[in-house]
Amino acid sequence: MAGKTILITGGAGFIGSHVVRRFVNNYPDYQIVNLDKLTYAGNLENLKDIEDKPNYTFVKGDITDEKLVFSLFEKYQFDGVIHLAAESHVDRSIENPMEFIKTNIIGTVTLLNAARKYWTDNPEGKLFYHISTDEVYGSLEDDGFFTEQTPYDPRSPYSASKASSDHFVRAYNNTYHLPTVITNCSNNYGPNQFPEKLIPLAINNILNMKHIPIYGQGTNVRDWLYVEDHARAIDLVFHKGKIGETYNIGGNNTWKNIDLIRLLCKVMDQELGRDPGTSEKLITFVKDRPGHDHRYAIDASKIKQELGWEPEVDFETGLRKTVRWYLGNQKWLKNVVSGEYQKYYEKQYKNRLVK
Ligand code: NAD
Ligand code: DAU
Repeated sequence: MAGKTILITGGAGFIGSHVVRRFVNNYPDYQIVNLDKLTYAGNLENLKDIEDKPNYTFVKGDITDEKLVFSLFEKYQFDGVIHLAAESHVDRSIENPMEFIKTNIIGTVTLLNAARKYWTDNPEGKLFYHISTDEVYGSLEDDGFFTEQTPYDPRSPYSASKASSDHFVRAYNNTYHLPTVITNCSNNYGPNQFPEKLIPLAINNILNMKHIPIYGQGTNVRDWLYVEDHARAIDLVFHKGKIGETYNIGGNNTWKNIDLIRLLCKVMDQELGRDPGTSEKLITFVKDRPGHDHRYAIDASKIKQELGWEPEVDFETGLRKTVRWYLGNQKWLKNVVSGEYQKYYEKQYKNRLVK
């Protein structure tokens, strides 16, 4: 794809910023345009190190803004789209589903419509790459894995909106022959994740000697993947993925929340020079998330067999790197948890009565 121009949406968020950095640094002959609304979750500090690169352009805007999206396609004549912009937090979707419908469904369809208009006559070499989640597959019992054939069974407003956007992407591939590819990934962790999500929220609370809220009994299971492993998979799928296909991406690394938090507490005590056991005392069991999915686990054998991808960062190494990043970037953390976040935190956790 020498000399191509790529639109990356949501590039100032957690995963998007790692993807933008990777593409800007690894492909100096590509032009990367990052379209992001900069909601509470987007932060230009995430891309400070690459903001002056000649092959990088930032556009502040909303993916549901049809006029803007079409004008960007007109101006840049994109060859590829890597679509990450989304409302991404399950608890917020329970509070306010409409924002998720607007951004995740209408925003995705707006981008698809622009790609359809500008690519129909010449689809050769074009690709609309939609980044999705394992949550579309629903919830597993204590064993088994999600494969690409697992029927969709979204159970939260967030996962329902992502499932809907996946369906639209497939429908545009089938109906209009739009060249598309989808990946469904498990839980990411790493630097720059907004501290509403479990791991950075716990790091921030431990740092400030605040309670660590664990929903229910802490027995829900997630499959954790280091964010740079995900960015590497996205790079590979963008360049080598087969049009019309879906690939699952996962960490092969399932943890019960309570076990993960105990490990994190141990790493935090070590990194902060606290007495062993100090952070664990902060663990507090709180009222469960409504409709809380029990277990996610990805079977990533297709991407391994077809494209040779597998996770490289083992969990303890990735977790320590993540902890060190947050401890070394406390200004970033203080900035993002001020203002709007404080209000969100109080509202979200006020009514989760301690058991
Ligand atoms: P994030 O919340 O950290 O970032 C989302 C970004 O999208 C932010 O920069 C935000 O400003 C931007 N955005 C939101 N609404 C927008 C709009 N209307 N127009 C333009 N920009 C808008 O999210 P993340 O965790 O980095 O997730 C990125 C993508 O990956 C999402 O599509 C998500 O569903 C998917 N995903 C996330 C995970 C995970 O564990 N975080 C796992 C699998 C898939
Ligand atoms: O599986 C991929 C998905 O992972 C992504 O699509 C989502 O964008 C991302 O937010 C994430 O969803 P989860 O709901 O799994 O992530 P979260 O960090 O919110 O929660 C992880 C687990 O920890 C989940 O079982 C709920 C629990 N939890 C979460 C928070 C915020 C707690 O016990 N306490 C908390 O305070």
